[in-house]
Amino acid sequence: MTLSNNWKVFNKTGKHRVLITKMLPGRVWLDILLQLDYMVEVNISKEVTTKKELINKIGNKCKAVIGQLTENWDLELFQVLRNAGGEVYCNYAVGYDNVNVEAATKNHIAICNTPGVLTETTAEMTLALTLACARRIVEADKFMRKGKFNGWLPDLFLGKRLYGKIVGIIGAGRIGSIYGLMMTRAFQMDLIYFDSTKSTKLEKEIDSYNDYLKTINCDPVKMKRADTVEEVLQTADVVSLHTPLNEDTYHLITADRLSIMKTDAILINTSRGPIMDEAALAKYCRDNTSFKVGLDVFEGEPVINKTLKKLSNVIITPHIASATDWTREGMAKLAALNVKGILENFPAWESDNIDPFLKEQPPKAIPSIVNADLLNDSYINPNNIH
Ligand code: GLV
Ligand code: GLV
Repeated sequence: MTLSNNWKVFNKTGKHRVLITKMLPGRVWLDILLQLDYMVEVNISKEVTTKKELINKIGNKCKAVIGQLTENWDLELFQVLRNAGGEVYCNYAVGYDNVNVEAATKNHIAICNTPGVLTETTAEMTLALTLACARRIVEADKFMRKGKFNGWLPDLFLGKRLYGKIVGIIGAGRIGSIYGLMMTRAFQMDLIYFDSTKSTKLEKEIDSYNDYLKTINCDPVKMKRADTVEEVLQTADVVSLHTPLNEDTYHLITADRLSIMKTDAILINTSRGPIMDEAALAKYCRDNTSFKVGLDVFEGEPVINKTLKKLSNVIITPHIASATDWTREGMAKLAALNVKGILENFPAWESDNIDPFLKEQPPKAIPSIVNADLLNDSYINPNNIH
């Protein structure tokens, strides 16, 4: 191992050069790459790797990059990577709004991500923020530390009871659905969701939960797929956002949409910051103190709206919804297996269930490739290039 500036190099004479733009947790990912005799270069700095540094590092020979959601992977970077012989870029994240997939595809670069292992972890954090908002945990903690607790009072930090209320999900994919289920099961909440496609899995889970409730003589929870985002916002006591960020979801939450929500609602965002108009949100929260918000993501990350930061009805955390050892090590393993899968000419994995990749002997497949349909198969399997 040699160290040059912020970059740590493993297996200097390895056959393929793989860049990793941040040190990843655990060790499994590194073992996978070293067992293949790849040369691995890791940026051990905590700073975001700049575009200039990425271009420099890719240089004229680089097969694969595992990058971060804080980097903007645009056409220029993919051209540089392609010219260096690059075949794959893996985003160390489930979301890949920081990646220009079209530009990568044009340059015959496979784009991979790390889904599946974040689902419950992110939903748990969403639930934590929901409860922290409902029961004013952060405010109460600050109050204690300031020495303001002079004894029990009937009206000290009155919060909001969730039991039997309505939870609203905007975007009922994997994370949104699990969060919705956690809320219905834990607090007997009715559920309303908006998604462009019907979430069959979520609906089935709720149906079987209701079957169970019947056996213990409890009322069923109600579930509805809403026709519009507005319907969710107007109806729910708690609304959580779980859409990917794209042209359709940019500023999905505007001043107008906030104004139709219940005045004492809770709004949570653990997806991507730009889904909300943050300035409008700050203004709304300032003027409506019974409205509670929990945010793990921000429009101009890592910069946060100054007003938002001052408000006690807003809880802010530093984009940590997927931050557990298990998840981050799992993401690292998937990232390494994505790189391996592409460079060793494995086929794409056909199922949403990536659990087999977490086992000791993972399948000989690419766990999650985003642009498989767009790339021609010959590129996925370079042996077939004529
Ligand atoms: C985190 O935000 C991710 O998309 O993985
Ligand atoms: C979310 O969609 C995940 O796969 O973790």
